[in-house]
Amino acid sequence: MSEVKATNIHWHEGDLPRDERFKALNAKGATLWFTGLSGSGKSTIASALEQVLVSGGVNSYRLDGDNVRHGLNKNLGFSAEDRTENIRRIGEVAKLFADSGCVSLTSFISPYRADRDLCRTLHDEGKLPFYEVYVDTPLDVCESRDPKGLYKKARAGEIKGFTGIDDPYEAPNSPELVLKTAEHSVEECVKQCLELLASKGIVNVAAGAAR
Ligand code: ADX
Repeated sequence: MSEVKATNIHWHEGDLPRDERFKALNAKGATLWFTGLSGSGKSTIASALEQVLVSGGVNSYRLDGDNVRHGLNKNLGFSAEDRTENIRRIGEVAKLFADSGCVSLTSFISPYRADRDLCRTLHDEGKLPFYEVYVDTPLDVCESRDPKGLYKKARAGEIKGFTGIDDPYEAPNSPELVLKTAEHSVEECVKQCLELLASKGIVNVAAGAAR
C-alpha cells in the first residue's frame, strides 16, 4: 500500500531551519510512542501526560488510534496490511509534529515490531527523537478492564482478528520505557514518562515545565 507513486516531486527546504524554529518557540520536538494491547492504558496515560505537559507550557499533542481511525485512517481496517499502513502514516504524522517543535504522543496498539521500527527509522533519518514506551499490561488485566466491551465480543467470535485474542502482539525488545499499569497508578506512569523526557532534555524538569 505504501508503494511510491509520486513522481517529478522535489523537496522544498524552506527558509526556517529547525534549530531556529525550536529556539524561537522555546520548544523541542520529539515523539513518545506508546505501544501495548487494547485496554492496556496507552490513551489514558497519554491523555494525562498531555495535560501535564501543556499546562507546564510544553506544546504536546496526542495522536490516538481510535481517534485517527475516525478521520485520516478511516479507510483502514485491522488486517496486517492495514495495521502496517495505519502505523506508517502515524509515524510520518508524528514526525511532522515533532519537526514542528511539538512533543507528539502516539497511542496505537502498533502490534508489529517491524512497523514500530520503521517509525523509529523515519525519526532517526529526520534527526528527531523517538522514544518507545511499552505499556506492559497483562492480557488478563486488559480483558478484565474491557473498557469498550471488545474483548467480550472477540471471545464470543463477534470480532475476528482481535489483538491478543486471535491476532499477534509483538512486545518491544528494547523500549526506552516500560510502564506496568497493573502495578502503578496513572499518575506514577505519567511521572515516569516525564522523567524520561527530562533525562533526554526534552523538558527541563521532571515536573514537566517548559525549558
Ligand atoms: S493498530 O493495531 O492498527 O495499531 P489501533 O491502535 O489503530 O490498532 O486501533 C486499536 C483500537 O481499535 C482498539 O483499541 C479497539 O478499540 C479497536 N479495534 C477494533 N477492532 C480491533 C481489532 N481487531 N484488533 C484490535 N483493536 C481493534
